[in-house]
Amino acid sequence: MAAEMLRRGQLVAFPTETVYGLGADATNSDSVAGIFESKQRPEFDPLIVHVADIAAAEQIVADFPEVARKLAAEFWPGPLTLVLPKRPHISDLVTAGLPGVGLRIPKHPLAIELLQAVGRPVVAPSANPFGGVSPTTAGHVVDGLGGRIDGVLDGGPCDVGLESTVVSLMTDQPMLLRPGGLPIEDIEAVIGTVQRAVSDPSQDNAAQPAPGMLSRHYAPATMLRVIPIDDAAATIEGKRCGLLTHGEHPFPQGFEQIEQLSDTGDLRTCAANFFAALRSLDSANLDVIIARSFPATGLGIALNDRLRRAAFV
Ligand code: TXA
Ligand code: MG
Repeated sequence: MAAEMLRRGQLVAFPTETVYGLGADATNSDSVAGIFESKQRPEFDPLIVHVADIAAAEQIVADFPEVARKLAAEFWPGPLTLVLPKRPHISDLVTAGLPGVGLRIPKHPLAIELLQAVGRPVVAPSANPFGGVSPTTAGHVVDGLGGRIDGVLDGGPCDVGLESTVVSLMTDQPMLLRPGGLPIEDIEAVIGTVQRAVSDPSQDNAAQPAPGMLSRHYAPATMLRVIPIDDAAATIEGKRCGLLTHGEHPFPQGFEQIEQLSDTGDLRTCAANFFAALRSLDSANLDVIIARSFPATGLGIALNDRLRRAAFV
């Protein structure tokens, strides 16, 4: 049913292990354009192409270098997007005119089943209005995009909870474009040092090699303030405050709502609960959300990245 809808050119959201994606047939330009329209996404921000297996991936890219093969063998299916030289038939709308295409095989039984049934590559950005908080349940998708898309395939809450790690292999040195659900340390253990892309806020409206690195992104409507991991969380006089925290005992006084991501501070659990907790605080009619940062290792790197962008004003 969902596969048939995608083949007909409709927009269908589906679960992956990272976040829900808004799917469209990558070979149908009208459908791809529909994604930009429904998300109100700027056309300089390219889309990730999703496929079911390596054979399908090879049809998308012009070159599959050894380093890509190593990463694919180790981490696909999984929360890793590789940017590789595209074949000419992949439209400029998908890649925002860039020579590279972002590609991944998701690790979710429903996603794989869907991709196999569609039999074509499927573009899928996170299924939320542009710049907002990514959806980790079907309900989140409906909250953000209901009425603007044709359907949602419900696969329950996402396991990983953070978007894929994006690594570009377009340059001599592999380059990290977005930290995500696969820790960068795991990638470096397989291929050695990966360069970090630096984002430049003055370039926010321009096409750039890492167009997704916008300073403000993943953002709730409520003001968000990030505190260092070891600071005491305190409310602000006269403001209705919420707290997004982890591993904290006892909880500080005076907060209207506290979202505890993990009692032990386990980063996998923090990641899995992160966007749902941020949404819950955002709908609690608060003046400010105070968020405790994460240790700067493993998934904590991606979590801190999301916090920093969510807090950028
Ligand atoms: O986990 C994920 O990656 C989810 C699920 C649905 O697969 N998708 C997702 O898509 O997060 P989106 O569009 O919300 O974020 C994709 C990121 C953006 O930062 C985009 O700029 C970057 O990947 N990207 C995609 N294609 C690219 C390309 N050809 N070159 C450089 N960056 C690319
Ligand atoms: Mg997104």
